[in-house]
Amino acid sequence: MQATIEISDCIRGKSPRGCQCFFVKLGNRGLKVYRTPEERDQAYSNQVWLHSKGLAPRAYFKGKVLIKDCAVGHGFEDRETYCYESELAEVFSWKYRKENDLSYEDYAKYVDRFEDASTEIKRKLRKLDIMWYDDGRCNVGFVDGQAVLIDTADDLVGDSHHLRK
Ligand SMILES: Nc1ncnc2c1ncn2[C@@H]1O[C@H](COP(=O)(O)OP(=O)(O)O)[C@@H](O)[C@H]1O
Ligand SMILES: [Mg+2]
Repeated sequence: MQATIEISDCIRGKSPRGCQCFFVKLGNRGLKVYRTPEERDQAYSNQVWLHSKGLAPRAYFKGKVLIKDCAVGHGFEDRETYCYESELAEVFSWKYRKENDLSYEDYAKYVDRFEDASTEIKRKLRKLDIMWYDDGRCNVGFVDGQAVLIDTADDLVGDSHHLRK
């Protein structure tokens, strides 16, 4: 499937981006966009397998995408990029404290909730003989209250051959 999307002003600036993935929220799902098919395929197959263990959001179709007229930069715009559709997770936001006018104490609880999720996932992966090195609050989220790993593009190191192509 090939989709061409144009990112509009209202999404611009609101779409989070890490080093590898540009995330475009579309309704109650999102597109995880990568520069290369290899990164996309690794993230996708890891996520499908982790989802089967209850440790990642569901992944849907894979596709190509052209992001137009948007100041994304970093090699994402005006060229073909590679994506897959993912279930949305509730993710950590640096703006959460200001947006919700939280006290520092309540913000600390918010941060702890994500840090605890990261610790829980690291422990569960370890039980599956997988070492996860990119742990932390920004790479986890919640789906239906369950802690999940959202950043699945890394070569998770382990004995599990499902995670290694
Ligand atoms: N399933 C998801 N649901 C909601 N937001 C997501 C999801 N996956 C990624 N994101 C957002 O996109 C950002 C970058 O995605 P991530 O997979 O961590 O890529 P990177 O490898 O570039 O860090 C995340 O920090 C998060 O804000
Ligand atoms: Mg990340």
